[in-house]
Amino acid sequence: MSKPTFNIDLTDSFERIPVKIYPNLKEGSRFIASEIAALIKSKQAKGEKCVLGLATGSSPKTLYAELVRLHKEEGLSFKNVVSFNLDEYYPIDVDALQSYNRFMKTHLFDHVDIDPKNIHIPNGEIAKENVKAFCHDYEKQIENAGGIDLQILGIGNNGHIGFNEPGSSINSRARLVTLDNSTRLANSYEFANISQVPRLAITMGIHTIMQAKKIILMAWGQSKAPVVQKSVESHVTEHIPASLLQQHDDTTFVLDETAATELTRYKSPWLTGECEWTPKMVRKAVVHMAMKVGKPILSLTNNDYRDNGLGDLLVEKGDAYEINLQAYYMMRDTITGWPGGKPDVQMPNHPERSIPYPKRCVIFSPHPDDDIISMGGTFLRLHDQGHEVHVAYQTSGNIAVTDEFVTRFMDFAVGFEEMFKIDNKKSKEILGEARS
Ligand code: F6R
Repeated sequence: MSKPTFNIDLTDSFERIPVKIYPNLKEGSRFIASEIAALIKSKQAKGEKCVLGLATGSSPKTLYAELVRLHKEEGLSFKNVVSFNLDEYYPIDVDALQSYNRFMKTHLFDHVDIDPKNIHIPNGEIAKENVKAFCHDYEKQIENAGGIDLQILGIGNNGHIGFNEPGSSINSRARLVTLDNSTRLANSYEFANISQVPRLAITMGIHTIMQAKKIILMAWGQSKAPVVQKSVESHVTEHIPASLLQQHDDTTFVLDETAATELTRYKSPWLTGECEWTPKMVRKAVVHMAMKVGKPILSLTNNDYRDNGLGDLLVEKGDAYEINLQAYYMMRDTITGWPGGKPDVQMPNHPERSIPYPKRCVIFSPHPDDDIISMGGTFLRLHDQGHEVHVAYQTSGNIAVTDEFVTRFMDFAVGFEEMFKIDNKKSKEILGEARS
């Protein structure tokens, strides 16, 4: 298993919760699975039960797959595991495709040797008047099991943990809650459309979660980066429930690199301590500062560098004038009139290689007009400069760009070719396939 990319020194950091960053979600999930396995085994050795708090959603799928693998290939037994799930939609049939009861069976419980008596998941079928008593009992059962040894969490884009939406109290216990619209939207991919996503859910409370002896929160992907940054680096606030975890004394955030990109150590590493001033880092720091102070790069002064945490760079490079020029030239060299590279010319700083020439290029266009609207000039240059240019239009056919819209464009292209006597058998073939 690979080591985390960084080992964090909290004294030298903006981070108020320990963070481990892995190159991708697979490696991060393997790390979490190994922590769970070690805990289960150490409890087994002492003849004790291991009480796990479990999450659902897209984040833990790879983790559960790894736990299943550990069970099947390495003999990890779940016989001593007692589990409590965080939440469930309300109302929902236990066996509904989208129920978290079903999710847990599909992804974990049906594939390991856990005793079904030890599984606890909020029930979305109970009558509303019984929900309060059910929640009270759920809390009691956690207490009777000796409390949660390890709680696994995901995080919502709005910072929710479990289904404790922004505004939930740090004292909240298991209860019925209203889901935020943003949560319903984020989870609508599991349903036919957003109107089918339940408006309510039963969730463990934040107090319940905070009572766990150890907590691991996982977050994967760029979309989680802003909320991870706020939870880890901003002040504690009930508006971002995950930030309350700063007050828990054994919580770790496990991230992949993309979910970590908004952390200061990535975004402005020069602010977190020593930093290696590679040319790329100099450019990043200078551009970041120029945007922040609202000045052109060439107008930045020594004082700007000092006032914005870049005094070290000044010491290393001497003078704002020199650094400004270095950053400016690097920016300038990203612009070219030869987007496919300039043939037969050796230009070390050119953004594109001169060979091979000509090149085969693919332009990926999320809509059948983005290629022209967003990069029409580049498209034209590539073509005029002798490259072979293809466009890949990316559409699922059912959201912004319908199938009908696509075939209309293709009809136009084929008609256009016919009108100008361009014999392109391929486009006719593709149109025929699209129609059928
Ligand atoms: C699910 C849960 C939620 C999810 C969160 C992230 O049991 O408690 O807090 O962890 O909504 O969902 P995904 O992982 O789908 O991004």
